[in-house]
Amino acid sequence: MKKVILLAMICLGTWTSKAQYSEKEIEAKIDSILPLLTLKEKVAMCHAQSKFSSPGVSRLGIPEVWMSDGPHGVRAEISWDSWNYAGWTNDSITAFPALTCLAASFNDSLSYAYGVAVGEEARYREKDILLGPGVNIYRTPMNGRNFEYMGEDPYLASRLVVPYIKGVQKNGVAACVKHYALNNQERWRDHINVEVSDRALYEIYLPAFKAAVEEGEAWSIMGAYNQFRGQHCCHNEILLNNILKNDWGFDGVVVTDWGGAHDTKESALHGLDIEMGTGTNGLTYSKVNAYENYYLAGPFLEMLENKEVEESIVDDKVRRILRLIYRTSLNPNRPLGSVNTTAHHEVARKVAQEGIVLLKNKEDIFPIKDETEITIAVIGENATRMMTRGGGSSELKPQFEVSPLEGIKARYKNAKITYAMGYASGAPAYARVNPSPYDADSLKSIAIDVAKKADLVLFVGGLNKNHHQDCEGGDRKIYNLPFGQEALIDELYAVNKNLGVVMVSGNAVAMPWLSKTKGLIQAWYLGSMTGHALADVVSGDVNPSGKLPFSFPKKLEDNGAYAFGEISYPGDSIMQEYKEDILVGYRWHDTKKIAPEFAFGYGLSYTDFSISNIQSDQSIYAANEAITVSFDVKNEGGITGAEVVQVYTGKIKSKVPRALKELKGYQKLAIASGASQPGTVTINVSDLAYYDDSISEWVVEPGDYYLYVGNASNNITKKIRISISKKSRS
Ligand code: BGC
Repeated sequence: MKKVILLAMICLGTWTSKAQYSEKEIEAKIDSILPLLTLKEKVAMCHAQSKFSSPGVSRLGIPEVWMSDGPHGVRAEISWDSWNYAGWTNDSITAFPALTCLAASFNDSLSYAYGVAVGEEARYREKDILLGPGVNIYRTPMNGRNFEYMGEDPYLASRLVVPYIKGVQKNGVAACVKHYALNNQERWRDHINVEVSDRALYEIYLPAFKAAVEEGEAWSIMGAYNQFRGQHCCHNEILLNNILKNDWGFDGVVVTDWGGAHDTKESALHGLDIEMGTGTNGLTYSKVNAYENYYLAGPFLEMLENKEVEESIVDDKVRRILRLIYRTSLNPNRPLGSVNTTAHHEVARKVAQEGIVLLKNKEDIFPIKDETEITIAVIGENATRMMTRGGGSSELKPQFEVSPLEGIKARYKNAKITYAMGYASGAPAYARVNPSPYDADSLKSIAIDVAKKADLVLFVGGLNKNHHQDCEGGDRKIYNLPFGQEALIDELYAVNKNLGVVMVSGNAVAMPWLSKTKGLIQAWYLGSMTGHALADVVSGDVNPSGKLPFSFPKKLEDNGAYAFGEISYPGDSIMQEYKEDILVGYRWHDTKKIAPEFAFGYGLSYTDFSISNIQSDQSIYAANEAITVSFDVKNEGGITGAEVVQVYTGKIKSKVPRALKELKGYQKLAIASGASQPGTVTINVSDLAYYDDSISEWVVEPGDYYLYVGNASNNITKKIRISISKKSRS
């Protein structure tokens, strides 16, 4: 027995030097550990032992694996056996902005900084896996979880997910990319069966996951709750075995979403590695979690013992889990991490500043000057509401959260700031909305009174983290603003025409009131530094540079998923068909010529930019070449700012249906007032391919294409015609 322990300690590296092991060394160590494990021990490693951990093998010194949500900060400790918070007093953290905001920054290096910071916090909290980031594509504005994802464009999400993962994993903490795949709505998420063409799957819904695996080298991935082609995604042969593990060569761990496993044999054979969150009375939210009865526990052991499943199946799972353990808790170079540091708060503030999008600025209502004679009336519940509460699993317990009102009050020393709530929505709750203790009429009349007396009204409204808003477990019920806000905006406008709106949401909303507001700021959910970052932009200390990561349709019917009726969204409760196919978001608006209220890639600045000298390096390209687009950007205004130049491509006369244009590159340039800066975007010709489902291959069609260069999907400065030849150049 002693010999075994000694051997295991050597294998596990207890006495070895401090250098991180090479991949080869790790595999050799795993080879030597596997024969020491009993079947029972192996099976135990494949399922939960508590709400957020899976067991190790203590006799061999194999550590447990500890996980935490994700993705906007490290969630407060949850009890061993229930969803209740454990009530710790040392688990408060930094809340970072929602991933929609990160996506709006169009800033890859900021995504890395975000990953590093949240990874340091996860490490400090002794987590091995951070359950995030999320990269499900924004298909409809009704999805309750869009705020946790990176928008509607597969290229943008792919670019931003990679540095986030690298940043997290630098800390010896695994990122767990979720929810793989097609979890694009919360309605019936536990069972809805998604039917989608291979083209849309490969071109729209998979690229960000592929980038996360192939470029980000993510160490774990979370299966989605829903079904795809008749199998649950947590044990889906096509998604997990064929695509993820075989085609993309994923060598990490597939974790279920909590309660996402439904069958032992499928879990065993279709690529699942760790089962979490199963409710053993058959219900996801069961109070009784008898871990031994998990699909990958007792029943799996029995199948192995009866030789219904080969031992190599469990060995592969355990190999992956051990690999993750070596990359995380057994990495001798793993840093110690840190939490709530000034540096983390600054990262949170910077992401927020760069992600905020200025959507309208008539008569330059923004920035608002801090003048002694003026009164600014801040109206709206979202000016004081904690948005880290609610929303589902991404809920956070930040050490502090500066509200918009607090941030504005801290910034404006001369102007008089008044406040009225205006409307009320009820307490944040995951599964229900508590009745509001407030009287709507009196809230409104107080707000009207406050607005009347002010020089300027700043309405801070939008959605919140209640059920049926921006919240897990349900979709939105209406596209319009809830809680009587539309009527309130109308009445505020009636008494004060100097009206600006700050929209706090993770989703697009209908804006029938748009003409009544002079200015509109899309402010997302910004985390700990919300109020400061918002005040930075409202005051002009920071010039906004965010761009929308998804389209804002004028009305719901203008959204592609909606255009085909209920079978397309939300489905008939059993199945749904993604009938808009590849035409998601701006691809739909552009191709069908349906103007959105605000387009993908759109966002204003307090300065003006011009893009000139736009050219491609050649006009004819071979199939194996890269296209370089160059341009100059000039800041024509009086203050420093940043512009995001976007390059889209579109095939002229394709033999298959294609979107008018697709984002293929962007560059964000910070430019001083009056200065010019050159920029370039490089696109591989191979990235112009479409997925040909008749042969299951990516195909670059030879012929003519347009390169569209501009600063929004609907604001193209120049179109360049290029040709792609059939041949490769040697
Ligand atoms: C969510 C996941 C989350 C998990 C653990 C599930 O309900 O879908 O995103 O990571 O719970 O909290």
